[in-house]
Amino acid sequence: MTNGQEQSAHYDVHWQEEEYYYPPPQFIGQANCSDTSIFDRFSLDNFPECFKEFADLLDWDQYWHTTLDTSDAPCWKWFVGGKLNASYNCVDRHLEKYKNKTAIHFVPELEEEPVVHMTFQELYRRVNETAAVLRDFCGLKAGDRVTLYLPMTPELPITMLACARLGVIHCQVFAGFSGKACGDRVWDSESEVLITMDAYYRSGKLLDHKANSDQAVEAAEKAGQKVNKVLVWRRYPGKYSSPTDMVDGRDYFLDDLIKEKRSQIVEPVSMPAEDILFLMYTSGSTGRPKGCQHSIGGYLSYVTWMSKYVQDIHPEDVYWCMADIGWITGHSFIVYGPLALAASTVIYEGVPTYPDPGRCWRIAEELDVNIFHTSPTAIRALRKVGGDEPAKYNYRFKHMTTVGEPIEPEVWRWYYNVVGKGKAVVVDTWWQTETGGFLCSTLPAVSAMKPGSAGPGLPGIHPVILDDEGHEIQPGEGKAGNLCIRNPWPGAFQTIWKDKERYINSYYGKYSKDRNSKDWRDWIYMAGDAAVMSKDGYVRILGRIDDVINVSGHRLGTKEIESAALTTEEVAEAAVVAMPDEIKGSVPELYVSLKPGYEPSDELAKKVSDNVADVLGKIAKPSNVYIVPDMPKTRSGKIMRRVLLSISSGKDVGDVSTLANPQIVEEIRKQVQS
Ligand code: WTA
Repeated sequence: MTNGQEQSAHYDVHWQEEEYYYPPPQFIGQANCSDTSIFDRFSLDNFPECFKEFADLLDWDQYWHTTLDTSDAPCWKWFVGGKLNASYNCVDRHLEKYKNKTAIHFVPELEEEPVVHMTFQELYRRVNETAAVLRDFCGLKAGDRVTLYLPMTPELPITMLACARLGVIHCQVFAGFSGKACGDRVWDSESEVLITMDAYYRSGKLLDHKANSDQAVEAAEKAGQKVNKVLVWRRYPGKYSSPTDMVDGRDYFLDDLIKEKRSQIVEPVSMPAEDILFLMYTSGSTGRPKGCQHSIGGYLSYVTWMSKYVQDIHPEDVYWCMADIGWITGHSFIVYGPLALAASTVIYEGVPTYPDPGRCWRIAEELDVNIFHTSPTAIRALRKVGGDEPAKYNYRFKHMTTVGEPIEPEVWRWYYNVVGKGKAVVVDTWWQTETGGFLCSTLPAVSAMKPGSAGPGLPGIHPVILDDEGHEIQPGEGKAGNLCIRNPWPGAFQTIWKDKERYINSYYGKYSKDRNSKDWRDWIYMAGDAAVMSKDGYVRILGRIDDVINVSGHRLGTKEIESAALTTEEVAEAAVVAMPDEIKGSVPELYVSLKPGYEPSDELAKKVSDNVADVLGKIAKPSNVYIVPDMPKTRSGKIMRRVLLSISSGKDVGDVSTLANPQIVEEIRKQVQS
């Protein structure tokens, strides 16, 4: 914990309750679920058998005999005895009805390049041919790991599904990560094959991704993992777009290799439900990256159910999730969930604001997207650069999702009113890489929306807020605590790859009283987020528990202060850090960036500071407000408060090379430390 604060989530909350918004009748009329009794079906009394309904959304080669096996608690086994194939469920089973329907709309970043509409039939062919290469040319078989280091093009889901077809475990690393970061994951997963692409577009530039891939191989080998084969998809098949040499005997063009497998069919391997579908690495606050291990049957049934009932996806919808497939959101809600439902899923290669702030809304208009899914960071960025842009385009969303961070009520309202034009339902979905799919959210046609709150536990999910001693904080008590889930669920990760100890300690250690217990009731899942639950059971996330700021014994959530700052008209983004203070313990220091057209000034800084004090009380008044050009952000768009804290405290900022915008760090440092 930085700054001598305790790592605790138990603190008073100063937040006001926000008003409800209700789903429009047209939405309710067409929704996959408008049954208000659904929560009874999924009550704890019906646990775990209620989850049969999830598994029944899939096609099984062999039905399971045990819904939940707790014999190795807290490593849960779901649908034991069952056998299935994920690629079959996402592709083959749709052919009869939908072979001629678009599975993937691929939107290249350059607008002059045509959009590619890949049908289920074509996806089926490509997945089979790729699987044939992986099996015959690479000798890969069920249980082997392969690292994918692919950008946002159709080759990414094709490769994932080809792996899944063979029971090979894929470990996709976000293409924006450095070669070194990828190499660490190749090493941790013990992958002998790396699958990559020569180049891709980002902000109008064709990036040399092959060079990064070579660094990944080098880093992995240094760490002790030899990569025998590097398979390279070409962004333009047949034309190599990278200046980096291919290595003889190691590197092969995958788009050439599949030609030799033209029209070959690879029987989907019937896999035990409990085998591993993929590893998704997530960074813990300390130590090496954690490979979250997700199962085939539990995970796939979970994301399919969530896509159907929370995303409200019907086969005829055009669904666009703007995340990168390199994150869990993309795995669950661009690839596996939507494709299992035969949706048409949009994959956009590039930057949402390239070449101008209207790009997203143009894509939405052209493809007639009706379900839109993105993050608060992207929403804030789109609002910052083009608050009036959505009105210029003639698209119509029925449904919009926000995910990944708490959304400030101000930003929520812009999303609802301006992006959604007041006509779409919004779901604020709270979950984690570890959880496979959503945990808390409103069910769009069943529950009212509340800006800034993720909503109650979804059917079958039973959240509880605990204080540090493990006592339950009652809904409506106005106190925040550790957000926990009482029961296991099918989408939950099985363990951290090769590190069960760390898995148990990080997620179950704090509240487990009997480490030998085989009863799921003794294993409460601790998410690591601080949250408050209001009387109606809606959960509002205040941030990670280690982001709490303690001022004179009052614990304040970073998000509370940042939301207060965003009530200032001029402010686009805000980030708060805790500065040590001899008297108060710590004091908040605030960084804000402005919407275009506004200039930084001392008056404005004071206005922001006064607003925070007005909304939350003097206790929260920032000691300084810095108006900066932009926030340092991770590639997935999360603001790096740690970097700002280092700047505030005059410390070395450490390695910032993996940030989306490393150059901003030096700019802010000069401004603050001058
Ligand atoms: C945060 C992303 C508030 C939270 C799916 C969680 C959220 C972490 C929300 C997981 C939300 C995610 N409201 N906070 N709707 N969704 N978070 O693993 O702190 O990249 O623990 O998974 O993001 O991030 P991850």
